[in-house]
Formats: sequence, structure tokens, C-alpha cells
Amino acid sequence: MVENEVLIKSKKRVQQHGEVFTPKAIVDAMVTLPGLDEIIIQAQTSVLEPAAGEGAFLINILERRLSLLSAQFPDDLVRFENYALLAISSLYGVELLVDNVKKCVINLFVIFHDFYKEFSGNFDQQPKTDVEESAKTIIAANIVQGDFLKRTTNADAPIVFSEWAPLQLKKNTKHIQVIRTEYTLQEIFQKIKLEPGSVYIPVPKTEQLSLFDSHEDLPVVPLYRYLPTRITEAYKEEKEEIPE
Ligand SMILES: C[S@@+](CC[C@H](N)C(=O)[O-])C[C@H]1O[C@@H](n2cnc3c(N)ncnc32)[C@H](O)[C@@H]1O
Repeated sequence: MVENEVLIKSKKRVQQHGEVFTPKAIVDAMVTLPGLDEIIIQAQTSVLEPAAGEGAFLINILERRLSLLSAQFPDDLVRFENYALLAISSLYGVELLVDNVKKCVINLFVIFHDFYKEFSGNFDQQPKTDVEESAKTIIAANIVQGDFLKRTTNADAPIVFSEWAPLQLKKNTKHIQVIRTEYTLQEIFQKIKLEPGSVYIPVPKTEQLSLFDSHEDLPVVPLYRYLPTRITEAYKEEKEEIPE
């Protein structure tokens, strides 16, 4: 076990939520199992940690992906930035406890930031704001508070994930373009395929209207879809209105 590794926060949390974090050495042994290792380390392989805690497994995978990318693109900062964001965009987590969700988001961003800062240093550069803001946006969208079993959040809303699908990704692509699509966890389980760019629309909990009530006073809510974007500009979350 790593020195000072905290695996239990309180007896109450263990009893109520089964919160016992996995030791780093065990995470490492599990993630590097033959057959799994080669797949999980690829930037485009989607990984979901369904009871993520503070992100033990996601952290390990992100660290290994960033190391691999730095070895693949030792002379190309722009490609490293693009593929590092892609590597984050396919890591997902669901966690019940709000404090763990925040810690998981921070942990993943700190891993990204520290690695990126050191790698940029090889080029006498500082991390770019666009890249770091995009990393924050992607991580915050991918690590979701919720009850994985009920598929809902504390606010009783569906758990929603963003797919960041690369567009025309080729071996020599330098600037990766993605299209973001929001899926509920329920839709993912049901293998429903949405139009690329779809934005999740919350269903308002209003009193039911009867057939004879007037619908004229209801506000017309415009519908939006995400626009294709460079992954380094994901933080802009650009959308367009869908014409009626
Ligand atoms: C055994 S810990 C594992 C945490 C992390 N995966 C690790 O290996 O260190 C289980 C975690 O699941 C969370 N949890 C418990 N029930 C859950 C549920 N229904 N949905 C999502 N998370 C849940 C707990 O809050 C706790 O952080």
C-alpha cells in the first residue's frame, strides 16, 4: 500500500454507502490485466466507473494514456493537446456523494494539468487556456452525480452523459473535431441512437393539461443542437437553434 493512502473516510460512510477506496496497487494490477491493458489505454476507448468514488480507476487510466501520448508525440505539442483531450473525453464516472464527485473532477483535472504543464515545458511553453478550459468542461460533463442503480441524480433528474464523437479522425489528424451529443443513462442502456448534436431537454414537471385546456399560453421553447467543434474549443459549448 502507498504510504498515507486514505481508503476509508468514516465508519458511517462505509456502512451507508460502501465507501472503501481501492488501493493504488490493486487498481494498477486490475487495469493492467493482459487483454484489458491494450484496449483501455487507447484514447478512444470509452470507460465508465459506475461507483467512481474519487476516481481511482479513471485517474490510473488517464495517467497511463497521457504517458503513452507523450511517447507517441514527443515533438508535437498540438497533437499531444488534441489527443490528450480525446483521452479525457472518453472517461466517464457516476458517483452518489457530492463531495466525492467534486474530488474526482479535481483529481482528473490536476492529473491533466500537471502532465500538460510538464510536457509544454519541453517546448518552453505554458499550458494554453483554451486547452485547459476544454479539459475542465469535458471532465465536468463526464463525471456525473447520481445513483447508478436508479439512473437518476439527487434532483431526481436523469443521469445525462455527453458523447464527444470525433469527426473524420485519421492517423495524421492534428486538430481533432468532435460533435457532442447528450444521452441519458437510460438511453445508453436501451442502445438508443440520437441525432449527433442532440441536447438533453429536461421534461418539465407541470400539472397535466386536459385536452380541453388552452395550449396557447404555453411558451415556445427553442430547441438547440451542439455544433461540431475543435476539441480544443469544447469549452465554448457552441450550439445553434434548430429551425422549426
Ligand atoms: C467501494 S467505493 C469505490 C470507489 C472507487 N471506485 C474506488 O475503487 O476507489 C464505492 C463508491 O460508490 C459510491 N456509491 C454507492 N452507491 C452508489 C450508487 N448507487 N450509485 C453511484 N455511486 C454509488 C459510494 O459513495 C463510494 O464512493
